[in-house]
Amino acid sequence: MQISAPPGTVDILPEEIRRDRFAESVFMDKCRLFGYNEIHTPVFEYSRLFRRGVGHVTDIIEKELYTFSDKHGEKLALRPEGTTSVARAVLQHGLYNNLPSRFCYKITCYRQEDPEEGRLREFHQIGAECYGSALPQADCEVISLAYQSLKAMGAENLLLNINSLGCGECRVSYINALTRYLLPFANSGALCPTCLSRLGKNPLRVLDCKEQRCKAVAAGAPAPIDFLCPDCAAHYAELKRQLTAIGIPFVEKPKLIRGLDYYNGTVFEFKAGKGGRNGTVCGGGRYDGLCSRIGSEKSIPAVGFAIGVERAVLAMAESSSAKTAQQKPDAYVISDDTALAAAAAACLRNEGVCTERDLLGLPAEGQEKSAKAAGARWSVYASEASLRLHCHATGESIALKSGAWKQAADIILK
Ligand code: HAM
Repeated sequence: MQISAPPGTVDILPEEIRRDRFAESVFMDKCRLFGYNEIHTPVFEYSRLFRRGVGHVTDIIEKELYTFSDKHGEKLALRPEGTTSVARAVLQHGLYNNLPSRFCYKITCYRQEDPEEGRLREFHQIGAECYGSALPQADCEVISLAYQSLKAMGAENLLLNINSLGCGECRVSYINALTRYLLPFANSGALCPTCLSRLGKNPLRVLDCKEQRCKAVAAGAPAPIDFLCPDCAAHYAELKRQLTAIGIPFVEKPKLIRGLDYYNGTVFEFKAGKGGRNGTVCGGGRYDGLCSRIGSEKSIPAVGFAIGVERAVLAMAESSSAKTAQQKPDAYVISDDTALAAAAAACLRNEGVCTERDLLGLPAEGQEKSAKAAGARWSVYASEASLRLHCHATGESIALKSGAWKQAADIILK
């Protein structure tokens, strides 16, 4: 029996990979403009890194982490996201001596989710992290980078939701109020078993439970925004002022919390999608406590986001998809002499011409058909004695001296 790819994984075929590359290259261009430098971290880390960073009582850790032991019995995990790994690398390599430091990445992530459209077990993120500033300027910068990137990718119906979770102090008052609100629901069957078990440990998680009955309970819950201390309220107000000043539209979502535990202060998400399908294409926020959570004595304020590449591609306008159409060869070499055809193709490629040649042993007539089938703009007839270019669009024929590859390339690329 034929073996297919495991559920939640996809083969990215040539047509689709071009859209992924387009999204990535748009993002990397914007990162360059904003001064973010690319960083690579391993695809697996010690499991305890993610447990501590993302939080023990989260879906990602409790239900979705891919874990395994190596031959020395070390417990490892495939990375479910990039932020924790970047924080580990920042600490491990002392990348905090010249703050602020700005990082960006494109990574593969793994989460054992229930697969559906836009929800995969292996997926790709492009993301950015800014270390060393506790000010709203940094929040504004990363939101702006995400916004500019998604706009340039052609994401349709872009919508930015923002909220503030406040600092540790705000959180204590909020968690108390939330727990007081949730407790009466605990014995009435109004919460799913997971939320019930999390009530005492991490009641915030009830607010992003996907179960319908928990959503109904969450709808009446108090919102973190109502428990902000004066400093956090001022930070949030200043962020909104800066976003307004640079013309980034946003909607305040007082109950927006995120599925990872490391956030404090600003949190945000971008929704986008064709035909009214508004998926979350990007999520992010401030995580001033992450470095301490993963064992650093030094606490470094930081803020960032990640865009899901597959979701961004689904949300792209047709006009963007068109920009990523399959590349057709500039030239197709037609020759009876295989060595000469090889040399011709090599010389043209050296000059920057995208060139194909016959690999099937076809006679010249068959090669002409292949040139048309490949959609080549020019046929290049090469023999020991002559070199002739034929333009398929205009029918124009140009005779050149044998071996005049540079001249041929100039004409083809004109
Ligand atoms: P996240 O919201 O878990 O945040 O993921 C960010 C984005 O990755 C989502 O908005 C979504 O587009 C995409 N994504 C997540 N899970 C899946 C999935 N199963 N299949 C396809 N796409 C998915 C983080 O990962 C944080 N590290 C973001 C961050 C960076 N916060 C601060 N810095």
